[in-house]
Amino acid sequence: MSLSGKTAIVTGAAQGIGRSIALRLAQDGANIVLTDVKTDKLAVVVKEVEALGRKALAVTADVGDREQVYAMVQQAADTMGQVDIMVNNAGIVQVSSILDATPEEVETIYRINVQGTLWGIQAAAKAFKAQGTPGKIINACSMAGHESFPLLGVYCSTKFAIRALTQTAAKELGSLGITVNAYCPGIVGTDMWDFIDRRMVEETGAKPRETYNKFVGGIALGRAETPEDVAALVAFLARPDSNYITGQSIITDGGIVYR
Ligand SMILES: NC(=O)c1ccc[n+]([C@@H]2O[C@H](COP(=O)([O-])OP(=O)(O)OC[C@H]3O[C@@H](n4cnc5c(N)ncnc54)[C@H](O)[C@@H]3O)[C@@H](O)[C@H]2O)c1
Repeated sequence: MSLSGKTAIVTGAAQGIGRSIALRLAQDGANIVLTDVKTDKLAVVVKEVEALGRKALAVTADVGDREQVYAMVQQAADTMGQVDIMVNNAGIVQVSSILDATPEEVETIYRINVQGTLWGIQAAAKAFKAQGTPGKIINACSMAGHESFPLLGVYCSTKFAIRALTQTAAKELGSLGITVNAYCPGIVGTDMWDFIDRRMVEETGAKPRETYNKFVGGIALGRAETPEDVAALVAFLARPDSNYITGQSIITDGGIVYR
């Protein structure tokens, strides 16, 4: 198995895309450190990882809090012996016109999406340096990190920022053998999209599922993305096959945004 003996940290691992990434990396041989603010749901995913024959550690942590992220990565290294892969997956979305965004909303989403990714990059790089090992940092971007959409402007701006952090981190850390890349999903039917669809009903008067179905209807491959589709790209970015790729934010959206 390509990730045998490796340890991967996955943030936002209690559900959705993060859960699927954790399970896929475990299938590929990695031990997994799962982190999220949803402690109860994390416990379920721990059992799922263990059922695949891998070690699992759950750490409740808020990625927007730098100290908590550093402490979580330290705990991961102490418990598992080493960390090799950091998946900065946790994120939130907001739906509102760019004219209506409030300071509180903007602070909240930047704290989690942008700062959360930045603290994850820093803490992982610190651990890899202390170990003297190469490592892989993999960030959750989005097709919305390549093209911005109406009523999703602030969210999209956080994903553009993550693309920038990914490029700079790759340039600064390359000489240490650390690669930094991002995955950019399209329309994945998780709780996040349920929330977007509900908010679109409120904002635009669309019928329930109308916005989701409209987006899915525009996908070249003719179906919505699954969390497993996203996890397949992350697994590639985590294994040695991707060792000569760094600084890239790779779109996996079935054909919506073309770059
Ligand atoms: N669903 C999609 O269509 C889609 C598309 C493109 C990108 N993404 C990105 O993929 C990532 C995962 O999205 P998802 O669809 O699985 O969403 P989700 O809402 O189902 O899951 C997100 C997870 O992150 C956790 N989280 C939120 N804030 C946190 C915090 N401060 N600290 C720790 N954990 C926190 C949540 O508790 C949850 O378990 C996000 O970064 C999202 O922006 C999703």
